[in-house]
Amino acid sequence: MYLTKPEPSTLIIFGATGDLAKKKLLPALYRLLSLKLLPDVFNIIGMATRALSDDEYRNFAKVEIVKNSRVQPVDNAKLDKLLSRTWFISSPFDNRAGYEKLASRLVDIDKTSGVKCGRLFYLATPPSFFVPIIEVLAQTGLSRKDAEQEQKAKIVIEKPFGRDKTSATELNKLILKNFDEEEVYRIDHYLGKETVQNILYFRFANGIYEPIWNRRYIDHVQITAAESIGVEGRGKYFEEAGTLRDMVQNHILQLLSLVAMEPPISMDAEVIRGKKYELLKSMRPIEPHETPLYTVRGQYGAGNIEGVNVPGYREEEGVGKESETETYVALKAQIDNWRWAGVPFYLRTGKRMKQNLTEIALHFKEVPHCLFTKNIATCPERNVLTLKIQPDEGIAFQFNVKRPGSANYMETVKMDFSYKDSFKTELPEAYERLILDCMLGDSTLFPHKEGIEASWEFITKILGGWANQPPPRFPNYSAGTWGPQEADALMAQGGRVWKNQ
Ligand code: BG6
Repeated sequence: MYLTKPEPSTLIIFGATGDLAKKKLLPALYRLLSLKLLPDVFNIIGMATRALSDDEYRNFAKVEIVKNSRVQPVDNAKLDKLLSRTWFISSPFDNRAGYEKLASRLVDIDKTSGVKCGRLFYLATPPSFFVPIIEVLAQTGLSRKDAEQEQKAKIVIEKPFGRDKTSATELNKLILKNFDEEEVYRIDHYLGKETVQNILYFRFANGIYEPIWNRRYIDHVQITAAESIGVEGRGKYFEEAGTLRDMVQNHILQLLSLVAMEPPISMDAEVIRGKKYELLKSMRPIEPHETPLYTVRGQYGAGNIEGVNVPGYREEEGVGKESETETYVALKAQIDNWRWAGVPFYLRTGKRMKQNLTEIALHFKEVPHCLFTKNIATCPERNVLTLKIQPDEGIAFQFNVKRPGSANYMETVKMDFSYKDSFKTELPEAYERLILDCMLGDSTLFPHKEGIEASWEFITKILGGWANQPPPRFPNYSAGTWGPQEADALMAQGGRVWKNQ
């Protein structure tokens, strides 16, 4: 529940006709308006290269919001209200004239609104435009604190934030030359997911977990983000990115830091950020020569998902016929600190996997003494605590019980908490929360400069190792499976198996 409304704001979306704007940003803004969470004075200016008038963009936005809104049917009156405060500027992202138009539009909007609106520049473009946009914003005086207006400009930047440690550091430098750190919001939409935010609530609003959340009780942790979708028309982007950059550097390492960080002394943004940073810095680097031991790359071939035949990655639009880009990654990570010494963290993520499944599973150690072997032949299964991020949002605890009856059988059962059953409500979209937080000036759910650089430090070593090794023989897993066999072998080395459900 928000107690304060954001100050009057104008949101400037660069890449206003792109996928992110269509599928996420515009529907999120409509939803925020419906929930009366937008500021009383709120305007949108879209910028993109497409030649559209204000009215044409309004129609475009209307169609996309109606199609993509998570709450249906869409209320036309509310939608029209949002669109009546929406404008469009057609311009290349590196063209000064477009920004001059933008500057005068901003002044006009302030005049007609009768109030000086805060400016929020949202970079929802492909990453290659981040630098030119920031540079032209700076050249045209739009980035700096506007003395007359006494309102700072904020900047929101989508991922991927850089391609490696060096480029991420340079991008940070450029941004901080032109904006103050507290006005910078680097987006990782996973942090806006309810279930991801709940990791900290679950860990620190309950007294009983902290004492067992460590190497004494936990055997290993598995973090999975499996997707059944392929690259969905983003072949060109994916060829440049690959899964390590697209998912691991950001989403997966964010999940890891939340589940493994030390308890913070408060929920203040800097405190949490500090703990996450410490955790990322305590990850043992996987040195380039160690990548064959601790990492697995995969690329999907053609296959079948839920009865539908789907093409292999190399057949996707925008992808090279001999592409060596990975669409799957598995890693064995180690954290060198007192809490986690000797506890492996197995991380995996991939496209075109058997099903959608994002979760963090903490596998506890086996019982110290196995009492039941006489009757049952095996030891009890390990207890597993699963934080289910999506699609079945909730938390499950797996434990062993005696099956009723006179024979001595043991069975594994689950205690299951489900958001849907307990709260009878749809979970909000991550972008609704994140856009609102940017307007409110709350950066708790946004990765910070140091954290991003620390995660790139870990990832860049792996990239270096991969560049030096002969690539695997791709494709090495079929669409609709749980990934390459090498990933099973990575687990088997430690006598473990992936939790595939
Ligand atoms: C994005 C990646 O950041 O996250 C996509 O670029 C991926 O490749 C997506 O599909 C997954 O997000 P979600 O919210 O659907 O799990």
